[in-house]
Amino acid sequence: MAINDAFLSELKMRTDIMDLVSSYVSLDSRRQGRTHKGLCPFHNEKTPSFMVYEDTQSFYCFGCGAGGDAITFTMKIENLDYIEAVKLLAERAGLSMPEDGYDDSLTKKKNRILAANREAARFFHSCLLDKKNSHALNYFLNRGLSPQTIKHFGLGYAPDSWDSLIKHMREKGFSVQELYEADLVKKSTKNGERFYDNFRNRMMTPIIDIRGNVIGFGGRVLDDSKPKYVNTADTLVYKKSHEVFAMNYAKNAKEDFLIVAEGYMDVIALHQAGFTNAVACLGTALTSEQARLMKRYTDEVVLSYDSDEAGQKATKRAMQIFSDSGLKVRVLQLRGGKDPDEIIKKHGRERFQSLLDGAENDTEFNLIKIGEKYDITVSDGKMSFLKEAAQFLATLSSPVERETYCLKLASMTEVSADAIRQEVNKNLSSVRRKAKKELFTQARNYSAGTEDKINPDKKKYVLQAKAEEVILVTLFRNPDFYKKLKDELTPELFFTSFNKRVLSVLLSILESGRELDVSSFRDSFSADEIGRITYFSDVCKEVSDTIEECFECIETLRNAKNKKSFDEVSAMSDEDFANMFKNINK
Ligand code: UTP
Ligand code: MN
Repeated sequence: MAINDAFLSELKMRTDIMDLVSSYVSLDSRRQGRTHKGLCPFHNEKTPSFMVYEDTQSFYCFGCGAGGDAITFTMKIENLDYIEAVKLLAERAGLSMPEDGYDDSLTKKKNRILAANREAARFFHSCLLDKKNSHALNYFLNRGLSPQTIKHFGLGYAPDSWDSLIKHMREKGFSVQELYEADLVKKSTKNGERFYDNFRNRMMTPIIDIRGNVIGFGGRVLDDSKPKYVNTADTLVYKKSHEVFAMNYAKNAKEDFLIVAEGYMDVIALHQAGFTNAVACLGTALTSEQARLMKRYTDEVVLSYDSDEAGQKATKRAMQIFSDSGLKVRVLQLRGGKDPDEIIKKHGRERFQSLLDGAENDTEFNLIKIGEKYDITVSDGKMSFLKEAAQFLATLSSPVERETYCLKLASMTEVSADAIRQEVNKNLSSVRRKAKKELFTQARNYSAGTEDKINPDKKKYVLQAKAEEVILVTLFRNPDFYKKLKDELTPELFFTSFNKRVLSVLLSILESGRELDVSSFRDSFSADEIGRITYFSDVCKEVSDTIEECFECIETLRNAKNKKSFDEVSAMSDEDFANMFKNINK
């Protein structure tokens, strides 16, 4: 059942979309006053195409098509379901949720998983302090972790047993099914169904989100056996590609940049040494979602991945993702140890601080990497180095930056800056040609409608979809047209299935005389689909807004329908055709 309407309208009145969105996105007010523009938080972009409309209390992104009202915004940005988003907004507005009626079974399920995780973390922590597991505590102490750090991160130990967690959690009132949904236990189906602890004989690191919930665990072996880590799989409360380890602490750090390390142990060691702005991605390569989460708290990251080959490869990838997300990137060249943990342990926090002070920006990092490939003390090596370096400099979009590095290279290699500049310029035009070609391909794909994920039928029925959209947009803007159109307009007239669904809900709202509002579509459409509906209702300008245009479009669709049934007949095989006649004769 839905949340009652009276409550929802109260919530809407008390929530200003401008206030809400500005706490996540910095918005420029344009001269028109009531439309605001910013960088979209839902996809990577460098020029703003994300709009917030005060008049309609909605948002829309021209780049990725995300759109909707305050509730949709909250669902998408906080990764929440509908009820959770309403709850969060209610809290924000100081309203208490109505007691009755709505279906919050999903929320309840998630809360049980979170409660199970919290209890499991408590259990693992107490096992770590248990005398009979002193070998586990010694493991952490031998790695240089202080008791305070162990407590601060809530570290623990999962005993070497198949069911000690299951037993403990049963006593605390959790069902095995709940533990299974939290990925705390695994299921074996050999000789009937049987459950066993997922984490056994492992050092446990709880993963805590920015709201303080325990959402999962990383479990490390105590020796060199494989696999080194067992991690919580994705659950209802945990999507590992979206989460950042230690962000719950790092977001409060006083530095205005984040240190991104590779491993849990690195982050824990960094925090212990006072670098409380350190975070790590969880058992995956960096994703753009994680970069965007970091972007909410900072404009700059310092990459400090391991110095081995895998770490350097990951650095290159991460640099790209971070800069696509609009973050400034610096790269730490680790010296004196393979990772931050080792450097701090061997040489102390000052050494890491001095590396941090000298961290190169990504251009320098790339030039150093190119330099390592050649011997520039001989003239052959010097020439090859300059050729490749010039190719790289040509990809930089800032002329000032290109010039700076031409001069640097000149003094480094004792080749004239002019010669280097020429080499860079030679590459410049081919780089530009390539970029232009890419843009053109993108634009062509887009206008051909090949990339419409919301309404995939659009590709097949380009013209019809256009006519359908004119009708939908006009009707959203002019609900009073409904009376004149209703005899002519039925969902069967539409060709594309998404537009058809929108029309049938739209018609039923208009028929019932209810208020026309994007939120009335929530029950039947996903948050992504709501984006398109917002485009129809609040954003699209390519209609003349007249009833005549609607009638023309209806006519277009009718003609297409007739033609379609004709085409279908002519596409029949001779046999089908003969059968049809047989049936008619009967
Ligand atoms: P590392 O092997 O560097 O682990 O992997 P670490 O945490 O620094 O551990 P120590 O210092 O060797 O004890 C970096 C990260 O990659 C993920 C984990 O998130 C780890 O922290 N990882 C690694 C896995 O998820 N599974 C694995 O088997 C190994
Ligand atoms: Mn490591």
